[in-house]
Amino acid sequence: MKKHLIIGNPINHTLSPKIHNYWFKKNNINAIYEKKNLSLDEIKETIQNIKDEKIFGINVTVPCKQEVIQYLDHLSPLAKKTNSVNTILKKGGKTHGDNTDVIGFELSISDLKINLENKTALVLGAGGVVPSIIIALQNLGVRKIDIMNRTSEKIKGIKSAFPSINEVKWGDLGNHDIYVNATSVGLKEKDDLNLDISHIEKGKLFYDVIYNPPLTKFLQKAKNLGHKIVNGEKMFLYQAQKAFELWHNISPKIDDILIDYLKND
Ligand code: ATR
Repeated sequence: MKKHLIIGNPINHTLSPKIHNYWFKKNNINAIYEKKNLSLDEIKETIQNIKDEKIFGINVTVPCKQEVIQYLDHLSPLAKKTNSVNTILKKGGKTHGDNTDVIGFELSISDLKINLENKTALVLGAGGVVPSIIIALQNLGVRKIDIMNRTSEKIKGIKSAFPSINEVKWGDLGNHDIYVNATSVGLKEKDDLNLDISHIEKGKLFYDVIYNPPLTKFLQKAKNLGHKIVNGEKMFLYQAQKAFELWHNISPKIDDILIDYLKND
């Protein structure tokens, strides 16, 4: 039985075990996927379990996506570029870290049939997921990416990795084609970024990386003002699909039955 694990903290609300266990069954793979709330000092031995083949695959979520890197033998180019690992496996006898968040974001946009070539974007936040979003936006042909964060200091690392990104003052929303909320504000129902978006021309795309709750205040306000909105559900589904593919060389199916199944307890 191939054991899989998602590590992070908090981990309670993750849908990763549900989706992967569903796909194992559908694809007749003798495997199990569990979640584990890890403290940072337990990461090293958990990764060693991959080498010892006690664990087959690991997904990594906040706040461990950077932390795991020091314990891995090898990184994919994307994991290196984003400094962020969400999928771990054993490859050629070594522990290998990969990043499927970039492709997850890209595919979620492709699904919308919206062309972002030569468009401009504003990313809100400077946390662990932001480098993946920046690379995805660049891959999608976005011409200009601005970023703003409550704490300006935290943007420095992102600026040095991506010098073409332009920092704007928190609250300075301008008039972009796509706005991406990559902050953690919205995870709790009543969370509100308290930003005034009323001046932004209608018909823009507002994207929230958060998928639970499905309609954050950020998206609700944008919807009320006539913008197109999308939450992080598809990004979650596609990053999971790509992780599954890395582990098992099968691209599992994403369909309405699966999406309904994930919504029901
Ligand atoms: P990660 O673990 O993904 O790296 P993080 O570093 O905690 O997450 O980042 C969360 C993001 O949400 C940060 O950009 C954070 O802004 P700060 O760098 O200023 O802390 C942002 N964030 C969290 N609470 C916020 C709030 N109340 N208002 C605005 N931004 C907030």
